[in-house]
Amino acid sequence: MKELSQYKKYKRIAVMGGSFNPIHNGHLVAAEAVRQEMDIERVIFIPAGSSPHKESDPMYNEHRYLMTVLATVTNPDFEVSRTEIDRMGKSYTIDTIRELRHKCSKDCEIYFITGADAIAEILTWKDPEELLSMCKFVAVTRPGYDKTKLKATIDTLNTKYKGNIEFLEIPALSISSTDIRNRVTAGKTIKYLVPESVENYILKFGLYGAGLSLSGTEYINKKLYSVLTPKRFRHTQGVAKEAVRLAERYGADTDKAYLAGLLHDCAKCYTDEEKLAMCRQYNVPLDDVLYAQPDLAHSFLGAALAKAVYGVKDEDIINAIAYHTTGRENMSLLEKIIYIADYIEPNREPFKGLEEIRELAYKDIDKAVEYSLKNTIDHNVNKKRMIHPLSITALEYYREGNNEKR
Ligand SMILES: [Fe+2]
Ligand SMILES: [Fe+2]
Repeated sequence: MKELSQYKKYKRIAVMGGSFNPIHNGHLVAAEAVRQEMDIERVIFIPAGSSPHKESDPMYNEHRYLMTVLATVTNPDFEVSRTEIDRMGKSYTIDTIRELRHKCSKDCEIYFITGADAIAEILTWKDPEELLSMCKFVAVTRPGYDKTKLKATIDTLNTKYKGNIEFLEIPALSISSTDIRNRVTAGKTIKYLVPESVENYILKFGLYGAGLSLSGTEYINKKLYSVLTPKRFRHTQGVAKEAVRLAERYGADTDKAYLAGLLHDCAKCYTDEEKLAMCRQYNVPLDDVLYAQPDLAHSFLGAALAKAVYGVKDEDIINAIAYHTTGRENMSLLEKIIYIADYIEPNREPFKGLEEIRELAYKDIDKAVEYSLKNTIDHNVNKKRMIHPLSITALEYYREGNNEKR
């Protein structure tokens, strides 16, 4: 990998320093604007290592670095350096600039791009005088930034310390990494604020709480879309919506109902071989019936995937997914809602008994469960399929009217 070593040929290099936690379009627009304004040949993004002021998490260092790579990879004039990420101990800008200066030709001009607020504090950095003598600074500001306040500081830096600091206003800098993190945590969209690759990366790794909360349904839908057939995807949307309606009817948590509905068939579209292999991988126990009919295992495997892949922590949601096919005795209200929503969602093709269950579902959910269990068992007996013991005990339980209101 190219590191700070091949810069002898350049006459004008810019360093874009920052935490990039995460990198966003403001950073990219700023770097590109400086590149053009200052006629820069190469912009080197250097994600900060351990800050002299705060400890940083090594895992997040790697994420910040990789997101910066993803964001810059399509621009041939941009590159990313690991120099600060890999530096042991505290990381100071002066060390990076010394290292870079050493690797550049003597007459190469180095520009350091940073926020105007950072410039105001430059005298608190390590060896500020040497730093000011080694590179030019471009203070990028967002629109409306009060430059007069900073003007005096910059004049002092430029005269007393022979600094060379210029301003450049970047409209896109009204975006901030803090805002992006908060938006992700709150489940709000960050589309068009960061490159799509960075957005996907954040969702994939659940950074800043993405996809790990109920608000991460956008992530879940994206992922489901990629692992389900279009028909199955439409079915899951139908189940999620029906589950919300049932939750409203019976006073259950609609967010949980929606999430359980979305995920209930997340393991459905893998082949039997894949299902068996994944059951082994995720420690899903297989009894004889499941082993003989791996498709039936999709509910238990789905529950395991909901936990491991989709970040669901709520046990009631996990159980609603696990028992949506077989049912079981004494199901929770959410379990019953998903069991029934799966049966009656609007995209279901008509089958014998469907209209009766649709009607019962909103009158007496326990009766609807009993009817559905009976219907399923009869159907499978006719098809000469094995019946899972859980379904048999569930039917006995609901027939006997043991319906605890859970
Ligand atoms: Fe299913
Ligand atoms: Fe389903």
